[in-house]
Amino acid sequence: MKNTSVTFKEMKQKGEKISMLTAYDYSTAKLVDKAGINGILVGDSLGNVMLGYPDTVSVTMEDMIHHGAAVARGAENALVVIDMPFMSYQASVYDAVVNAGRLMKEGRAGAIKLEGGEEIIPQVEAIVKASIPVMGHIGLTPQSINTMGGYKAQGRDIASAKKLVRDAKLLEEAGAFAVTLECVPADLAEFVSKEISIPTIGIGAGAGTDGQILVYADMLAMFSDYRPKFVKNFANVGEMMMQGFKDYDAEVKAGTYPAPEHTYAIDPEVLAEATK
Ligand code: KIV
Repeated sequence: MKNTSVTFKEMKQKGEKISMLTAYDYSTAKLVDKAGINGILVGDSLGNVMLGYPDTVSVTMEDMIHHGAAVARGAENALVVIDMPFMSYQASVYDAVVNAGRLMKEGRAGAIKLEGGEEIIPQVEAIVKASIPVMGHIGLTPQSINTMGGYKAQGRDIASAKKLVRDAKLLEEAGAFAVTLECVPADLAEFVSKEISIPTIGIGAGAGTDGQILVYADMLAMFSDYRPKFVKNFANVGEMMMQGFKDYDAEVKAGTYPAPEHTYAIDPEVLAEATK
């Protein structure tokens, strides 16, 4: 069944948990989709995971469109959500609508995601008015790393916990179909999930949210630059890849790869004639 922003809301009403993972390319998107995951986020975490930046600040619209379109080609049933990169929506409502439109038209997204609460509500309203489904993202918002002063849990004091609840409600009122809660205390995330009617998708926000998302390269132990507390290893793919690369290196150097079964044959008469 094709997942959409509408089916996400229906899943919450039915009490069904929503699964999401990131992907940044066609082949991974195909695997994630075939595994039955409800949504694929083309996260701007591609800046860290795919492009080797220390943060997401340098990610461009062109990066998001390039990777987003590849993912969209591989996703048959999963809802493809593409992140709006830093400074593609903060400066004006006009920028926000035009860039969200590009992610839909050129990236073939089914929805877009942007970071922030109260301060970006006019942008969310305008994008929703343009018939583009919006997923919010509050709590730890990595695009604001330079004002947040580090990747740490949010909403742990009264003022920031109150702001989180208020931002979630404002996003719902502005027409968002879902909201990501990143690095938020579990009890607070559960409270927010009960307070709003749209689904909450947690990452480092405990088990009380309506769905979960992880960066696929984290949960497969492929990305080792840093490892957030909330990540669980579901498979040691990084280790398997490393072993495969080492085995290949050893066989190439020993001359045991390629073997006859990996080799194309030629009629000896053709070879003799061609090499006369
Ligand atoms: O960019 C990303 O991968 C994200 C998730 C961490 C939610 O925004």
